[in-house]
Amino acid sequence: MYEIIRHLHSGWAYLVILMLLLATLNSLSGLFRNKEFTGKDRKIALFALIVTHIQLLFGLIIYFISPLGKAALSQMSDASMRLTAMEHPLINIIAIVLITIGWSKHKRLTESHPKFKTFSIFYGLGLLLILSRIPWNLWL
Ligand code: HEM
Repeated sequence: MYEIIRHLHSGWAYLVILMLLLATLNSLSGLFRNKEFTGKDRKIALFALIVTHIQLLFGLIIYFISPLGKAALSQMSDASMRLTAMEHPLINIIAIVLITIGWSKHKRLTESHPKFKTFSIFYGLGLLLILSRIPWNLWL
């Protein structure tokens, strides 16, 4: 069970980063080129939101079953252990909250420019936070 979830969480991370990158670049392009916000833009942002939430689910499951997580919690003075057990989960949850706020905020907006701006800020920040706390030594 642990190995299956670990592989899912590891492989799904590519999709999360790819979709967040696509959604952020698409919003920045819409913002700076003064485009109209269309159904295609909404779908890209929605897909990025969904894959990120699925990753949260995998992350929460692995957090409670990973032997690495348990070992790491008792070795907080080790930087890479601290990253895996505390910084990665905590910062990623904050990133996912930001992404979700971005999605909710865009729904209350009616004009294209503020919609693109909201996605650029909230999805862009979320992506940066996620990238800042990836346990690269475990992943690549
Ligand atoms: C969108 C956000 C996230 C991304 C992109 C992401 C990505 C990753 C990656 C690439 C790894 C290394 C996997 C490997 O061993 O090959 C990893 C490990 C891990 N992640 Fe995440 N993660 C995210 C969110 C979370 C969350 C929210 C939690 C917990 C609440 C979490 C808990 C863990 C744990 C405990 C490990 C270590 C697993 C182990 O090797 O035993 N992750 N994550």
